[in-house]
Amino acid sequence: MLPLTDTYQRKFYYLRLSITDVCNFRCTYCLPDGYRPSKDREAFLSVEEVARVAQAFGQLGTTKIRLTGGEPSMRRDFSDIIAAIRQQPAIQQIAMTTNGYRLAKEAANWRTAGLTAVNVSLDSLDARQFHQITGQNKFTEVMAGIDASLAAGFPVVKINVVLMKHLTQQLPEFLAWIKDRPLQLRFIELMETGEGNDYFAKHHLSGEHLRRQLVDQGWQIVTRAADAGPAQIFIHPDYLGQIGLIMPYDKGFCDSCNRLRVSAIGQLHLCLFGEQGIDLRDLLQADAQQSALQERIQLSLAQKKQTHFLHQGMTGMARNLSYIGG
Ligand code: 5AD
Ligand code: SF4
Repeated sequence: MLPLTDTYQRKFYYLRLSITDVCNFRCTYCLPDGYRPSKDREAFLSVEEVARVAQAFGQLGTTKIRLTGGEPSMRRDFSDIIAAIRQQPAIQQIAMTTNGYRLAKEAANWRTAGLTAVNVSLDSLDARQFHQITGQNKFTEVMAGIDASLAAGFPVVKINVVLMKHLTQQLPEFLAWIKDRPLQLRFIELMETGEGNDYFAKHHLSGEHLRRQLVDQGWQIVTRAADAGPAQIFIHPDYLGQIGLIMPYDKGFCDSCNRLRVSAIGQLHLCLFGEQGIDLRDLLQADAQQSALQERIQLSLAQKKQTHFLHQGMTGMARNLSYIGG
């Protein structure tokens, strides 16, 4: 019965695996006060536990794993984690989402270890505003990291930009930036999280507004492959780069859901919002537990709901996205 399929006939090829909650940035929409470890926190998954997660999902039809955080490269054994996942023949793509902090130095090493794609967060092309948003004066380093990723030969380099009101003025600059660069700029509509209600009210900018602007400027939407993610992709004959628009509030957004999540402490989350995790950790302790682990994952999937409840303002357990990795 491959791949994993839920009661709404959605198929799950894609696992987002958080390997740490720790982040050294303080993005205003995510961790405005910076990362604060809780006193009784559980240890993050070990390399062996990560390998067992990858094996179980690989045998259940998963072909792509994205490493997230927090900031995944805060783990000193990050290269070992990539290498361990690469041992799983079913996993053809290993991606990461990063704030770009270590990318200039490490992009080539991670590529060699087996990483196939990077998504870099970059919410502004203005160094001062970047500092304001992230709490880190690292704009130059992150831009160098993006260039290093292209130079390292990653087939896919995507840039995550959270859609916020200030972006309206910066759109032309962002578009100019991808004219001659093979980057996919992904505008992600700001999502309301448990900790960020006022912030949301103040900054949320609808993706629909941007979509209209893009279409007016000659950007064309590309028909989506059945197993593509929830981004709407736009291309333009004058641009080497592409644009992806992610609108979690859009009608039908959840219909194309093809992903599951595992947190840094080994909890399976069927949706980013609105549910408790299902603990897998007790079954990550020995190779002999693989069939029990796979069975638990399969049974859990039956509980996956048709959609999230963001429209009702229910943000569930997601205090902020560093907890479960976007
Ligand atoms: N809304 C939308 N995207 C968010 N991210 C984090 N918090 C939010 C939020 N509240 C995304 C950003 C960042 C990635 C790590 O997670 O795109 O690039
Ligand atoms: Fe860190 Fe990412 Fe959250 Fe920014 S969005 S604080 S980079 S986890």
